[in-house]
Amino acid sequence: MLAQSYVNGKWLENEDNSLSIYNPYTKEEIGKQFQASEADVENAIASAYAAKKEVASIPAHERAATLKKAAQLLEERKEQFAKIISQELGKPLRYTLDEVTRSVETLELSAEEAKRLFGETLPGDTSSRGTKAIAATFRVPVGVVAAISPFNAPLNLVAHKIGPAFAGGNSVILKPATPATLIATEFVKLLLEAGFPKTSINMVLGRRDAVQQIVKDDRVNVISFTGGLVASKNICQLAGIKKVLLELGGNASTIVHEDADIARAAKMCARTGYSNSGQSCISVQRVYVHESVISEFTRLFKEEVEALKVGDPLLPDTDVGSMVDEANAKRIMDWIDEAVSMGAEVLSGGQRDGAIVKPTVLLRPPHHSKVVCDEVFGPIVSVIPYKTIEEAIEATNNSEFGLQAGIFTNQMDLAYKFAQALEVGGVVINGTSNFRLDHWPYGGVKYSGIGREGPRYAIEEMTEMKMIVYQIVD
Ligand code: SIN
Repeated sequence: MLAQSYVNGKWLENEDNSLSIYNPYTKEEIGKQFQASEADVENAIASAYAAKKEVASIPAHERAATLKKAAQLLEERKEQFAKIISQELGKPLRYTLDEVTRSVETLELSAEEAKRLFGETLPGDTSSRGTKAIAATFRVPVGVVAAISPFNAPLNLVAHKIGPAFAGGNSVILKPATPATLIATEFVKLLLEAGFPKTSINMVLGRRDAVQQIVKDDRVNVISFTGGLVASKNICQLAGIKKVLLELGGNASTIVHEDADIARAAKMCARTGYSNSGQSCISVQRVYVHESVISEFTRLFKEEVEALKVGDPLLPDTDVGSMVDEANAKRIMDWIDEAVSMGAEVLSGGQRDGAIVKPTVLLRPPHHSKVVCDEVFGPIVSVIPYKTIEEAIEATNNSEFGLQAGIFTNQMDLAYKFAQALEVGGVVINGTSNFRLDHWPYGGVKYSGIGREGPRYAIEEMTEMKMIVYQIVD
């Protein structure tokens, strides 16, 4: 399989600038990636810039039809796309099939939003200076959207950027994460087949400084980035005067109160703390459990975690596959060691085999350990007791991040109190932090990001409001 940059309507092949791609689970070579040179990135920006008028002139109903066609093609190729993601990233097939289904929905939602770019009329007679005036607002394309995407949901998070960008009438430069270029190549081919104009998408692979080159360029109007905090700070410094949308990480907390259905909470924390080996921005990382139910919770949670099937990502019943690479698996082991050296107890897991880390449960790591205060992005869940509601709220909020949180309780008024007090972009009641539907607004506060994804919200960010005023002449 080949992963190729796509620039100005051409697929590039440059043997001198290529990398082998390995399956992180089998360690076999599965393909080759052709990286873009500095000149290729420049050509990609120029091509997207030149295409922006063409894309803006496509009527909304045609943009919607193209996105719908893309959704239909993806639905037809669900298994093929899911297998590519599983092979390239070690993500189990049950989750990659789910990701493709979600991506189909994301494209369909984008198609629908293309037809809902509404404005409003504003009578002028609310001011004595405007009795003979009326204004109307319209949504117009921003021009060029740079989509910089992560590896962990390498299809759906690309669809969340390209779908709304195209729906809003923009051209796109895609820079997918380096470990996720085979799936990005296949997706761009599908979008072109669905009818995206030849130069409305450009894609550049590899080269770390390609991101900097794109971000700095004033021909790019909006940057939509999903990834880590360090990279995002760099992007903000370089971007200059342009809109930057950031969907960053978190150290998501889920609270299990004393009156909750403990068995349900234990099952859901196990299912959503280790899917994709915990490599999701909203993966359950910290579980704060009321001290009166912590023994029951840990017993049930451990049973659920140990029942998860770990192994070959291509087998249909595998729950936990490999991490994206061995370097990350080693980092996770270091973080476990650090937590243990600070007093945490390993209740389950704590072993590594290549890029696989067994689902790990830690009890009582201290607040300043990395597994609690940093973003783990790996298969570790920490269980920490609390005495009072205030303590659970304070512990959750004592974080530089704030993406999503979960709360299990049977008291509606208490759930509401928690939900109001937690400093996050979204709270799930009677569920964990790791629950998202693709039409909902998704994004965080603090260092978890700026702006919201979800086609309806992203399309607002990727279009400008334009006002047209009519002065009535008597
Ligand atoms: C992410 O932000 O890691 C993606 C989560 C999701 O879409 O489920």
